[in-house]
Amino acid sequence: MPHTIIEPFRIKSVEPIRWTSRAQREELLRAAHYNLFLLPADDVLIDLLTDSGTGAMSTHQWAAVMEGDESYAGSRSFERFSGSVRDIFGYKHVIPTHQGRAAERILFGITCKKGDVVPNNTHFDTTRANVEFVAAEAVDCVIPEGRDPRCNHPFKGNMDVGALEQLIARVGRERVPLVMLTVTNNSGGGQPVSMENVRQVSAVCKKHKIPLYFDACRFAENSYFIKVREKGYESKHPKQIAQEMFSYGDGCTMSAKKDGMANIGGFLCTNDDLLAQQEKDLLILTEGYPTYGGLAGRDLEAIAVGLQEALEEDYLRYRIASTAYLGNHIAAQGVPIVQPPGGHAIYLDASAFLPQIPPAQFPAVALATELYLEGGIRSVEIGSLMFGKAAKMELVRLAIPRRVYTQSHVDYVVEIILEVWKKRESIRGLKLLYEASFLRHFTARLEPVA
Ligand code: F0G
Repeated sequence: MPHTIIEPFRIKSVEPIRWTSRAQREELLRAAHYNLFLLPADDVLIDLLTDSGTGAMSTHQWAAVMEGDESYAGSRSFERFSGSVRDIFGYKHVIPTHQGRAAERILFGITCKKGDVVPNNTHFDTTRANVEFVAAEAVDCVIPEGRDPRCNHPFKGNMDVGALEQLIARVGRERVPLVMLTVTNNSGGGQPVSMENVRQVSAVCKKHKIPLYFDACRFAENSYFIKVREKGYESKHPKQIAQEMFSYGDGCTMSAKKDGMANIGGFLCTNDDLLAQQEKDLLILTEGYPTYGGLAGRDLEAIAVGLQEALEEDYLRYRIASTAYLGNHIAAQGVPIVQPPGGHAIYLDASAFLPQIPPAQFPAVALATELYLEGGIRSVEIGSLMFGKAAKMELVRLAIPRRVYTQSHVDYVVEIILEVWKKRESIRGLKLLYEASFLRHFTARLEPVA
């Protein structure tokens, strides 16, 4: 069999991207207060800010869009959507939401109260913020290997089961309304969780009668990692793996903007009838009627098809290989990255890249802005700006949109990162001029230190 793993698709529609000069980028960055979220997207050449909602839809998805039934209640598209979700996830109740954080807000809003504690391998920023918004505490319990960028472990997203047990013992079972597992572990480097770990966490939850929920955004990538890295799963189809994984839980939150292969959408699942009723009541108040949940019928159709496409083996082989291609090419030249490469993104270790910049001067923001200046590449900081004092690492995430960029785009990104690597000693930190009281990284204003 040939070694070259090609994009398993042909390109049918293209979207131009625009070059800017370095002088223009310097000006644009100043105007954006050194916050890449505040840049106009047209001034970005290669946009690796996120893999969320930025993917390319397939011909099958676009065809399904035309089948969208926009009926307010009981739409046919909801039947197709919930059928597709149930086929993979297996949960009894499927509640559509406009994106992942809406599912989080509803779930935590109903199940959590002041003083409660929610363990997770690692909370994503919106997940943490939604837990904290109801005055509960979000606790990260990832294995110690998951906090060491250089440590090469096949399942760095695993939950530290001992730490979970201790946490439950310390705070008391009645203060833990649910346990969450994020697959893959986005904030920790896009690292997978093993099936063995899922089983162990599930056993702890069952023992204490605590519901286990998945933050399932990248469930297909996680399933593929299990297939290629965990004994006993080599010959299983990614869909069978996903089905088994979800069978150990009681529900999930999902952003369909990731492994749903759609530009918008999400859902909340549960097996609990009473909880589902409360969730649907709140949904009607803030999102929409339970058969559309803030989405158009055409969005539901795109997700129904996208979820199944995300589990195709050819796609996943290409997806995981193309992300690793970026990571391996820069790591080979000495650039410090979170090892091994994640599923949806490569994470530069900014503390090791820029040891001269202390966390208080946001080394990962400095590195991200430098990549923009050098080559018009947009990435995102996952570090002290995003998480404040809760930050365990200073990372720059280069997230790869699904089915969007080709290998030559990635070669260009490699070249730019290596240029910045050469001039790393001259890069300075930043200071914060404005911050919001939560999720401050989206709107923060900064300037380079003198
Ligand atoms: N959970 C995880 C693990 C996520 O990565 C995200 C979003 C969410 C929940 C929230 O979903 O955006 O649909 O409301 N992550 C995006 C990212 C934004 O760039 O990683 P959402």
